[in-house]
Amino acid sequence: MSKITEALQKAAKEREERLRQQQEDKVPPPSKEVPSQSINKKGPPRALPTVPLSPPSITGLDPHLVTYFEPHSPASEQYRLIRTNIQSLNAKNSPHTLVISSSTYGEGKTITAINLAIIMAQDINKPILLIDGDIWKPQVYQYLNLTPKAGLADFLTDNISLESILLPTKINNLTVLPGSKAVSNPSSLLESAKMKHLLTEIKSRFEYIIIDTAPVLAVTDAGIIARETDGVLLVIKANATKREVIQRAQSVLAETKAEILGYVLTHVEHPIPDFIYRHL
Ligand SMILES: Nc1ncnc2c1ncn2[C@@H]1O[C@H](COP(=O)(O)OP(=O)(O)O)[C@@H](O)[C@H]1O
Ligand SMILES: [Mg+2]
Repeated sequence: MSKITEALQKAAKEREERLRQQQEDKVPPPSKEVPSQSINKKGPPRALPTVPLSPPSITGLDPHLVTYFEPHSPASEQYRLIRTNIQSLNAKNSPHTLVISSSTYGEGKTITAINLAIIMAQDINKPILLIDGDIWKPQVYQYLNLTPKAGLADFLTDNISLESILLPTKINNLTVLPGSKAVSNPSSLLESAKMKHLLTEIKSRFEYIIIDTAPVLAVTDAGIIARETDGVLLVIKANATKREVIQRAQSVLAETKAEILGYVLTHVEHPIPDFIYRHL
């Protein structure tokens, strides 16, 4: 396990323990109206990473969802940077429907998609939709500890309403369209007229749509969906994904005429400075 993963898991455990302790002791959480930093009479609030004022009300979330647990941490700032870069990509017609993919499994697509969706929901006061478009290995619901009754593949194969699969989350402004495994022909489902119709419908309802997908080199899904969107963010696992593998993924996407908007490097190992440890 990497140092960052260990630190995040330790921090999440400690936070849950603090929350449990707080509930047992019936100590009221700090008031939202009076943030604890501004009580500091010695000077202005310090720009240090802080534990969120509202303690996490959803337990069982994956500790890698730093944008939820530590919205002002340096890691969350990196997701914020991705958000601002996306928003400033094209001033007149900036991308609003984004596919998150990578060359292979395990590179951090789903974690990136969720963190980006959370940061957008927190920072942009408009409805954001996160779609789990990986119908081979849907995992968004696990990372967010959701219990969907049905998902994307069910919607595309059965006669169920869109409303019945849209899940509100406890994160303000964030809705999830969960994934479900397709029994047969997963890729052709994504090419169906119903999928196109779905995207048209949700584009009119949500400000930003983030779509997590299966890896580019495993199946054709990412390219198929990307054609109907504004482009792809390609996730790359640092010190793991080989240059030739990335190049193959790039050419597969180019063949499907999907535009690569940018790249996200994950699993970056660097020592965590002391002051961050103090606030984890
Ligand atoms: N940015 C990251 N930094 C460190 N570890 C990460 C990061 N993103 C994901 N991981 C780790 O990699 C695992 C796989 O991530 P996931 O997003 O499920 O990959 P994918 O969707 O590409 O298959 C996660 O369980 C987590 O342990
Ligand atoms: Mg995934």
